[in-house]
Amino acid sequence: MTRTILVTGAQGFIGRYLVRALCDYGNCRVVGVGRSPDNATHFTHNIHPGGAERAAPLPNALLPDGPNYSYVATDLSDAAATARLIAETAPDIVFHLAGSLRDEPFERLVTNNIVVTRHLCDALAAHHAVLVLGSSGSIYGELGGGGMPLVETGATEPIDLYAATKRTSEDIVRIATRAGKIDGRVARIFNVVGPGQEERHIAGRIASQLTELRMGRRDGIALGPLTAWRDFIDVRDVADALVAIGLAGAGEIFYNVASGSETQIATVYDVLVAAAGIACPALTQLPGRAVDIGRQVVDVSRLRSLGWQPRVDLAQSLGNVMQYYLELATNA
Ligand SMILES: NC(=O)c1ccc[n+]([C@@H]2O[C@H](COP(=O)([O-])OP(=O)(O)OC[C@H]3O[C@@H](n4cnc5c(N)ncnc54)[C@H](OP(=O)(O)O)[C@@H]3O)[C@@H](O)[C@H]2O)c1
Repeated sequence: MTRTILVTGAQGFIGRYLVRALCDYGNCRVVGVGRSPDNATHFTHNIHPGGAERAAPLPNALLPDGPNYSYVATDLSDAAATARLIAETAPDIVFHLAGSLRDEPFERLVTNNIVVTRHLCDALAAHHAVLVLGSSGSIYGELGGGGMPLVETGATEPIDLYAATKRTSEDIVRIATRAGKIDGRVARIFNVVGPGQEERHIAGRIASQLTELRMGRRDGIALGPLTAWRDFIDVRDVADALVAIGLAGAGEIFYNVASGSETQIATVYDVLVAAAGIACPALTQLPGRAVDIGRQVVDVSRLRSLGWQPRVDLAQSLGNVMQYYLELATNA
């Protein structure tokens, strides 16, 4: 049976890698959704490799789209348009990655993380489809309320508004699932790393500054505190995890999507500096966030029980990020 699979946020960072994994998996028709026009060559975000702002091009491994892929531009904050999209595509599985990220204004967080999720759940009610929500590991907050490691059955205590809106989107999926409207699953994605990543994320930010340093466009690196411990996972492993969760039989709703290893941000910095081939750059310490999570240790046994295993280790992943930025700056 050929499944129809919808990917929202398909032209975003994780969405692009998920579409590639689904096209490679085969035996499915993949329909991508986002607000922006169809774009075969670039992500939706901009980056500044070496200084000048530009749309982030797709790494070669993501080119070209598979023959079983098509894209529909739809703003999911429009309830009627979302209902039409679902009626016309009749998806068996929806991977819902559309959303707004941490530093966006509250109104956008509410619209794109909460309202959009409600629209999708309502539109899917008559279809009994699987819906996999791309949520965030940040919903656990400091110590997850229940200590380490963070397990899916533990408490969640968001410490910022982004995480609060992701937590609410989880509730919407859980409620629709309990009401029998959808077969909902929630992927709590931790810190993603991979080529094409923007500077809003720590690895992209460091790689971008190191690239500017290599090009003589800055004298040193300026970053917030490097002391926090996080679980970093390669974007290709995230895509594999999402596929495993989407194709799993009915069972659990919540899944941690992480590597299962903790790494201090200082180590991420050191690995990227080595990959850039720069000896001891001058490092200026900037103030950190007013409220932040000090440490995350994640239990991934539920995800592993689906047969998922990470394929890309952190050193390789960070090396790929550094190479992506350096190549872009060199070819600019
Ligand atoms: N990256 C991470 O480290 C990370 C970690 C944990 C969780 N997550 C979650 O994973 C998901 C994907 O993250 P990402 O890094 O791939 O983000 P991203 O690159 O910003 O992609 C999100 C996409 O959502 C689309 N979108 C936003 N609002 C929309 C709307 N109203 N209707 C239709 N499409 C809309 C945007 O495309 P258009 O501009 O084309 O609409 C954008 O490309 C997000 O929900 C995020 O919260 C990410």
